[in-house]
Amino acid sequence: MIGFPLQAVQMGSFRLEWPVVLAPMAGYTGGAFRSLCLEQGCGAVVTEMVSAQGLIRHHARTKHYLDRFGDEQPIGAQIYGSDPGAMAAAAAMVAERNEFVFLDINAGCPMPKIRNRGDGAGLMRDPARLFEIVRQVCGAVGGKMPVTVKTRIGWSADTINVMETTAGVEEAGAAAIFLHGRVASVRHSGPVNWPLLAEVKRARRIPVLGNGGIQTATDVFHMIRETGVDGAMIGRAALGNPWLFHDIRELAAGRSSSVPSVEEVRGMIFTHLDRELAMMARRGSRQLRLGAELTACLVMRPHLVRYLRGFRGFGVLARTLEERVDAATLRQRIDAVLATGRRCEPPSDKAS
Ligand SMILES: Cc1cc2nc3c(=O)[nH]c(=O)nc-3n(C[C@H](O)[C@H](O)[C@H](O)COP(=O)(O)O)c2cc1C
Repeated sequence: MIGFPLQAVQMGSFRLEWPVVLAPMAGYTGGAFRSLCLEQGCGAVVTEMVSAQGLIRHHARTKHYLDRFGDEQPIGAQIYGSDPGAMAAAAAMVAERNEFVFLDINAGCPMPKIRNRGDGAGLMRDPARLFEIVRQVCGAVGGKMPVTVKTRIGWSADTINVMETTAGVEEAGAAAIFLHGRVASVRHSGPVNWPLLAEVKRARRIPVLGNGGIQTATDVFHMIRETGVDGAMIGRAALGNPWLFHDIRELAAGRSSSVPSVEEVRGMIFTHLDRELAMMARRGSRQLRLGAELTACLVMRPHLVRYLRGFRGFGVLARTLEERVDAATLRQRIDAVLATGRRCEPPSDKAS
């Protein structure tokens, strides 16, 4: 399948020039990783989900989820919670920072500790509350930035209510919807409901960006063509593969992508590690039980699993990842894996 040029999307006052967005992923999409994706051509990024209660209580750890790497742009901030007043107050605090181009409300997180409190996906079971949150958050940010909603098609297969929830959030003032085409009960697995993405897109006036199950650059164009959505949001496929965003641009321009060389993989991993180290150093050791360096190395672990999975020597590194190591040791171990060469090529659209 051949790519095609993608159109800019107007999300309220924010014009998203390139409608391919990195999905928020708690534990993964901190500033270091997001900045790499932006450099590879991602159109916008979003912070990991940030607790509204934590923000209004001025918890230092919560505030750090809003840290950016350098002048990372364009970036939206995502907050979660279920109390409209708290969500509005947290949104106002985010707006005051003047660092974010949109404010996203998490109405899709299926993790038990979130949804059981009525936050995240819990909001889909209480649409009136979700609409009130959108109304109050829009009021609180006072036109400073558009408010978006990231949600799913429903709570479970027999309670699909996405037409109602998306109509309500549009009515309440949302400027765009990021729609994960799965129900909350399946969390992140199983097929993505494209027909429903298409139906929501047809029914809404505000932009709808589709999310879920995109594995390759080709999939982006496939989803957009089949469903008519205004753009795509990509989560797990970008982990260990920030080049995916470059591949999408290449495909849009009618060119094929290429698999990154071992040197490029090394460069990406080491830049990523350096940026994690810089971000943790900024946070300061008082915040971090293990100190900045060990924490940065720990944060890198799940990324390394993805960057290095296709390498022959990966098993050796995987077995030692549980150890707490400093950055110099980690670099040596990464180099040892890279020296073993690739077992298999990473997924690409080169042949398509
Ligand atoms: C580890 C992990 C963490 C996630 N954290 C968030 C989050 O903080 N906020 C959010 O809205 N969605 C979160 N998600 C959901 C993703 O944004 C996305 O909707 C989901 O992974 C489906 O997209 P994908 O199939 O492209 O990965 C998370 C998903 C994963 C796998």
